Amino acid sequence: MIGQLLPAGVVAVEAFEDVPGEPEFPGEEDLVVNAIESRRREFATARRCAREALARFGHAPAPIRRGSNREPLWPPGLVGSITHTTGYRGAAVAPRSVVASVGIDTEQDDPLPDDVEEAVTVRREPEMLAALALAFPLTQWGRLLFSAKESIYKAWYPLTGRWLGFEDTCLTIDPAGAFAATLLIDGARTDRGPPLTELQGRFLIARGLIATAVTVPP
Ligand SMILES: CC(C)(COP(=O)(O)OP(=O)(O)OC[C@H]1O[C@@H](n2cnc3c(N)ncnc32)[C@H](O)[C@@H]1OP(=O)(O)O)[C@@H](O)C(=O)NCCC(=O)NCCS
Repeated sequence: MIGQLLPAGVVAVEAFEDVPGEPEFPGEEDLVVNAIESRRREFATARRCAREALARFGHAPAPIRRGSNREPLWPPGLVGSITHTTGYRGAAVAPRSVVASVGIDTEQDDPLPDDVEEAVTVRREPEMLAALALAFPLTQWGRLLFSAKESIYKAWYPLTGRWLGFEDTCLTIDPAGAFAATLLIDGARTDRGPPLTELQGRFLIARGLIATAVTVPP
């Protein structure tokens, strides 16, 4: 599903259910040691998807540790992203030569509560969501914007090492399946790349889920 949103050269692996009783991968046990069962299962399945994606680039199975801000740490030369929601676990991995960063997110295709929508929108976004809802009333545009911003954060963080709030980007959604985010804060990167000013992404709605993906060109 999410692979449809990603450029050639990015490998996506997904699962729609967990393997009952799947143990933690050796070297990752401590990452979920205090987690409830459902969290352990989503973690194990999503990390298995990520390992399967890494295997396509010749990487033998190894623990995927996490950094100080919960970001997954990928082998040198590769970038990636992980998402899970009820009924879906997925990972996307690519060489840095294909994309500088990738962020993927999935959400349930349900309305976003009004107070959450207010909290995650800026500038002209509420008007845009209202206009989209009038034109396409069956789509949960607020939830889609929320997911898009989470994908943006997941692509942003590994490149900048900084927090990005929901109020720090302003989205324009193309109902055909794409979005662009203008960054409202300094997009200076920790690698040698040009500062981030705008990020592009794509979305789809299928199987009761909203999926979004953002990639930053190399
Ligand atoms: C981190 C965050 C985006 C995760 O999204 P979510 O919908 O809660 O959960 P998902 O299942 O889709 O994604 C969770 C995965 O995100 C990844 N992730 C967590 N922190 C991350 C970070 N700083 N950078 C990149 N990826 C990160 C992890 O792989 C995590 O899964 P894991 O713990 O099993 O490894 C969210 O919890 C959050 O903190 N959001 C606030 C920041 C934000 O979204 N700002 C919007 C800016 S426009």
